[in-house]
Amino acid sequence: MCGIVGYIGNKNATEILTQGLKRLEYRGYDSAGVAVFDGKEIQTVKAKGRLKNLKDELLKTPVTGNLGIGHTRWATHGAPCAKNSHPHTSQDGKIAVVHNGIIENYEQLRAMLENKGYTFKSETDTEVIPHLVELYYDGDIFCAVKKAVSHLSGSYALGIICENEPDKLVAVRKESPLIIGVGDGENFIASDIPAILSETENVYFLNDGEIAVITKDTVDIFGKDGEPVIKKPEKVTFSENAAQKDGYEHFMLKEIYEQPRAVADTLRGRLADGMPVKFDDFDSKLISKFRKIYIVACGTAYHAGLVGKMAIEKLAKLPTDVELASEFRYNEPLIDSETMVIAISQSGETADTLAGVRLAKSSGAYVLAITNVLGSSISREADMTFYTYAGPEISVASTKAYTTQLVALYLFALFLAENKNSALPTEIDIVKKELLKLPVSLKKVLELEGEIKRISKKIYKETDMYYLGRGLDYAVAMEGSLKLKEISYIHSETYAGGELKHGPIALIEKDTVVIAISTNKEICAKMDSNIKEVTTRGAYTIAIVNEATAPQHTACSHMVVMPGEGSVLSPVTSAIPLQLLAYHVAYQKGEAIDKPRNLAKSVTVE
Ligand code: F6R
Repeated sequence: MCGIVGYIGNKNATEILTQGLKRLEYRGYDSAGVAVFDGKEIQTVKAKGRLKNLKDELLKTPVTGNLGIGHTRWATHGAPCAKNSHPHTSQDGKIAVVHNGIIENYEQLRAMLENKGYTFKSETDTEVIPHLVELYYDGDIFCAVKKAVSHLSGSYALGIICENEPDKLVAVRKESPLIIGVGDGENFIASDIPAILSETENVYFLNDGEIAVITKDTVDIFGKDGEPVIKKPEKVTFSENAAQKDGYEHFMLKEIYEQPRAVADTLRGRLADGMPVKFDDFDSKLISKFRKIYIVACGTAYHAGLVGKMAIEKLAKLPTDVELASEFRYNEPLIDSETMVIAISQSGETADTLAGVRLAKSSGAYVLAITNVLGSSISREADMTFYTYAGPEISVASTKAYTTQLVALYLFALFLAENKNSALPTEIDIVKKELLKLPVSLKKVLELEGEIKRISKKIYKETDMYYLGRGLDYAVAMEGSLKLKEISYIHSETYAGGELKHGPIALIEKDTVVIAISTNKEICAKMDSNIKEVTTRGAYTIAIVNEATAPQHTACSHMVVMPGEGSVLSPVTSAIPLQLLAYHVAYQKGEAIDKPRNLAKSVTVE
C-alpha cells in the first residue's frame, strides 16, 4: 500500500526521497510524487504510474532543496492519476502533506471547507488535510497539525512540511505505521524501515496519536495530550543487503531461497537439542487459564494459522479456531479472559488483523502476536509478541514469512505441550528433532527447482488449475493455490480430496491441471483414490509427494518427490515446491512477479 518518505538535513532531498520511494515500491502503488522546499517555496512534482515516470517529470522540472516529503500512492479514493497522487497542498500552496490510510469523515470535512471557500483539486480523502492545517495555521505548524488531526476520523500516517517553517518536518500517526530515522545532522520519516535503511539504523517508532516535530538536529515527540514523550531511538537489526536482490532476478526467488536461513534464525535461541522449548518471554504460568484459542489472520498468514490449529490441537489438546480477521472482527466471537487470541501478521500492520487484536483485548482475551516486523502496530498492542526472523520480505507474495510463521506455531504448540504434559515426551521429541533438521531439509527441497521449472513450462498457458490435499496437505494446498493466483493470474481453486465427489469433480475434463499434495503415509491411499478419480476423467495430475508416499501414487501424470518420509512438519517443506511452481509459471507468462497487479504488501486499510 502507499509509502511515505520524508527528509530534512543538508543533502538533496529530491534524491533521498526518490531513492526511499524506490525501496518502498514492493508495497504496491499506482502513482508517485514529491514536494520539496527549494529555498523559496514548496515545489510539487507528481506522476501517474511507476517511479520512472516521476523521475522523467523531475528531469523536465528539476527541484532541489534540503526539506521534502515523497509518496507512492495505492488508489482508494479517486482514480490513479497525477492529480490524485500525493503530496497534496493547501490552497495557498504553503503546506504540503503526504498521507497513508483513509480519512473516513472526509466528505463532511470537504463540505465544511468548501463552505469556507476552499477549492479542491483532487478526488481524494487526503486533500482535506492540507486545507484543514491551513485553516488552523497561525504561525505554528505543530499547533495547526494538532488541531487539524483532532477533526480526522479513520487512519493516518502523515508527513507535513510548511513553507513558513522550512526548518521543520512534522509527522503524526493513527493506525498507520510511521517511523523516524535518526541521522547525523539529518533526519527522516518513512512508512517502512527499508525506505531509510541505507541512511540510518536508528529509528523511533511513533505510537498512535503521537506527533513529532523534526528538525535536522532534533526529534521532539508529543503525546495526544500535547505533553512531550521521552523515548530512545531503537537500532533495527536487518541490513540494507537484506532489502536488495543479491543477484536473483526477483525478490520472490531470493526470498524462497532464504527460507533455510530464515527458519534457522527463527529457531535460534528457542529450540536446542535436549532442551525444553523457550517461547521468548511467554509466562508458562498463564497456560492453565486458557480454555480456547482463536487464531486470527489474513491471506497467507491465515493459511499458516490453519496448520497451527492442527499442530496445537494435536500436541497441546487445546480447542483452536482459525478465523479470517476480516470475518472475526464482525462475527461476535465468543471471547473472554480464558481465551487466547493469536494474531499472525508478517507486516504487523494489517488493518483487519489489528482490529481483531483490539476486539480480543477489549473482550478480556490474552493476545499473542506472531509477526515479522519489529515495533509494528500489532506487536505494540498485543500482550506478547513472538518475532519471526524472516528478515524484510519485499516480494508482495509471501514465502519466507509463511514458513517462519509455521515454525513459530510449531514452537508454540510444543511449548504448550511441554508445559501441559499433553503429549508423550517421545512424540514431542520427534517433532523437536524434525524442527532442528528443517533448515537442511529445506535446502534439499530447493534442489527440486529445475524439475519444477520444467513442469511450469508445460502448464503455464492454462487458465484454470485445481489443488487437492487432505489434512495438513489441504492447508498447504490452499497456500499453493493463493501463490499461483497472486502472481500468475491463473484461476485456481483448492479442495479437500474427499470433497471432490460432492461437486467440484464436475469441473474436471481432459487435460485439466490438478496439483495433488500427498505427504502423509497414513492417508495417502485415500489421496490416491482422489488422484485416480481425476486422472480417469482425463486430468493432468502433478503429485507433490515424499519418499514414503511416492510408491502409492503411480496413477499421476507427474510426481515431484521431496526427500524424506514426511511428518507433522510437512507443511513447511511442501510449501517450497508450490512456491517455486507459482514463481516459474508466472515467470513463463512474463508477469511482474514481485509487484502483482492490484495487490499491496501491507494492507493497512479495511
Ligand atoms: C499473500 C500475501 C497476503 C498476506 C496478507 C496478510 O502472499 O502476502 O495474503 O499474507 O495480506 O498480511 P500480513 O501477514 O502482513 O498481515
